[in-house]
Amino acid sequence: MDVLRRLEGLELIVVTGKGGVGKSVVTASLGRLLAARGRKVLLFEVDPRENLHQLLDTQPSGGEIINASPRLYLQHIEPRELIDDLVREKLKVNLLVNRVLASPVHRHFTEGAPGLKESAVFGRALRMVEGHGPSILRRPDVVILDAPATGHGVSWLAAPQLVADVVRSGPIGHMAEVISAFLGDRSRFGVVVVTTAEEMPVEESLELIAALDGRFGREPEAVIANALYPAIDAAEAEDDPATALWRDRRAINVTQLERLATAWTGPLAEVPLMAIDPGPALVGAIARRIEAQLRSS
Ligand SMILES: Nc1ncnc2c1ncn2[C@@H]1O[C@H](COP(=O)(O)OP(=O)(O)OP(=O)(O)O)[C@@H](O)[C@H]1O
Ligand SMILES: [Mg+2]
Repeated sequence: MDVLRRLEGLELIVVTGKGGVGKSVVTASLGRLLAARGRKVLLFEVDPRENLHQLLDTQPSGGEIINASPRLYLQHIEPRELIDDLVREKLKVNLLVNRVLASPVHRHFTEGAPGLKESAVFGRALRMVEGHGPSILRRPDVVILDAPATGHGVSWLAAPQLVADVVRSGPIGHMAEVISAFLGDRSRFGVVVVTTAEEMPVEESLELIAALDGRFGREPEAVIANALYPAIDAAEAEDDPATALWRDRRAINVTQLERLATAWTGPLAEVPLMAIDPGPALVGAIARRIEAQLRSS
């Protein structure tokens, strides 16, 4: 099936990849693209260095849902607060809630428990697409998660199962089971891998693709090869150090794209490095490029 159609039909998309490759800008661009195609989109940002609002030129979220443009919303998520919300929701008795939230054991457990924060973020995304959002956005069609670069991308996806394996019963265990099943459903959940065409990011992307296959028996929906140096027209090229550097970078890009192609033959969008400052103009240009590339891939 056409990959754009596939992306359009999903309820949750995780954008992942090595640090600094352009995950945030691709998240914003994918959001713009799907919103332009009629989907109501909510972008989740977990990184404490909020920057999606700059890319979309809105005020910072400060934890609230912000409407950036027609059908496009963003929210900064603090996993710790989601976990506290979960306790509130599941325990319901106020006195008990306050005691649990204030207790050092709770802090200690939730800080250290592997997979809990990630599961809480997925849990919130699931609640949103199932129609339990606040009045500003009751029900987005799709949530796009700008996954933090900490750890390996796959550890995010493995988190709910990890929690489900450890906490077998009770509301948290149940939640983790539900999320795990959601992440296993390819008609609802997708992964977009962002990489630059350089050795280490490609290495990590290949590992990620292999891990997705090995652990989840699935592929990403698309790979975005970002910030590529465009080819230089040999006839016009100056013979100066800047041009030489450019040519070197371009040569690395070509080699690494070939390496990527040996392991990934699925949908690929090549996005050039653009001489545009981070902001809506860059996001719009990248969105158009991704759309054109995925349409023909
Ligand atoms: N194709 C591109 N053309 C021009 N600038 C780009 C492009 N892709 C990314 N950038 C710029 O490169 C920088 C890094 O991109 P971005 O913040 O999206 O990466 P990231 O993967 O989210 O990083 P981190 O892992 O630190 O969160 C930003 O300033 C962004 O605007
Ligand atoms: Mg980022």
